[in-house]
Amino acid sequence: MNKGERWIPALGLCLAILLGCQPAAPPAPGGQEEDRAMNLETSDFGTAPGGQAVMLYSLTNAHGLRARIMTYGAIVVSLEVPDRDGDMADIVLGYDDLAGYVADNPYFGAIVGRYGNRIAGARFTLDGREYRLAANNGPNHLHGGLRGFDKVVWSAEPVRRSDAVGVKMAYTSPDGEEGYPGTLTAHVTYLLTNHDELKILYEATTDKPTVVNLTHHSYFNLLGQGRGDILGHELQILADRFTPVDDTLIPTGERRAVAGTPFDFRTHVAIGARIGAENRQLAFGGGYDHNWILDNQDGDLALAARLFEPTTGRMMEVLTTEPGLQFYSGNFLDGSITGKDGAVYIHRSGFCLETQHYPDSPNQPEFPSVVLRPGETYTQTTVYRFSAR
Ligand code: GLA
Repeated sequence: MNKGERWIPALGLCLAILLGCQPAAPPAPGGQEEDRAMNLETSDFGTAPGGQAVMLYSLTNAHGLRARIMTYGAIVVSLEVPDRDGDMADIVLGYDDLAGYVADNPYFGAIVGRYGNRIAGARFTLDGREYRLAANNGPNHLHGGLRGFDKVVWSAEPVRRSDAVGVKMAYTSPDGEEGYPGTLTAHVTYLLTNHDELKILYEATTDKPTVVNLTHHSYFNLLGQGRGDILGHELQILADRFTPVDDTLIPTGERRAVAGTPFDFRTHVAIGARIGAENRQLAFGGGYDHNWILDNQDGDLALAARLFEPTTGRMMEVLTTEPGLQFYSGNFLDGSITGKDGAVYIHRSGFCLETQHYPDSPNQPEFPSVVLRPGETYTQTTVYRFSAR
């Protein structure tokens, strides 16, 4: 190779770095796939109702997995992962464009806050003072209220690491927003790693005592979105107990053993195997819509659940630092939503695994605390890890 020929690839590499591409990562474990360069691209995704521009971050890892995440609601718009033959499918429910999310979104792909899940009677007392919230779910408050974190535009910056590409989102919720005390400054970082993980790192601080419980609300279908129901997926949840609820889905305070009930997912069971069983708790939820008390309660990142879809071989593991996991089997989907690529979201065509503190914790002092005080930092980490077999 003469001097001139050596310059051409060197120039190419400089250009790639300038354009935001990264050099190829080390080979995949097992070496079954050829690695490509990671990629991070941004594009416009429209204008939110308040007039703010919405950006879309498209993240691709070294194995070709791709996540598209937008700044409206910090929503995961699509997530493409391979099956056992290497065929890619988008495994999260959603809409083709921003208008779909703005018009009618049952929290598809969103970051939920300030409080994921329900607060009984839409009120709570903290340090002797009562705070009233919007009752947007029967008598209760759900998922942060009328305009929760799923409906605001986050600011964002790209993240490039040696083994991941990502986007760091920030939102400052003013004191009193949706009835919650304190200015809450929240950061959520999504990373798509070369270990085929979508990793979500959360952080929040406040200037007054408040409550916080952030979570992620993707509806997954490992067959591919729009390809039928999720009842054949096999689920394992590493939990001996769950929190039974009343008929408005507020925990009664009991920590009930799963043994001998349709809530026992300690070994893999098809989601549909017992969902129609005669059971008061299943009747209240219209299926599964409950919080499991994870075996791991020490705040370290640990395996919480595993999903396996037998026809495609796709597998998803969920790891979290949180003490609870809301498993929602898409019971409110009824075919009335047409989502991406014309897909009709039939009953139970997606499920959520929301890592969180327990529902109604602000009113249940015996549950792990969700109180955040000035000077403290709320953190949580959740990993959705993909593979196929
Ligand atoms: C959560 C709740 C469900 C439902 C969905 C959104 O999972 O627990 O009851 O509200 O969000 O439809």
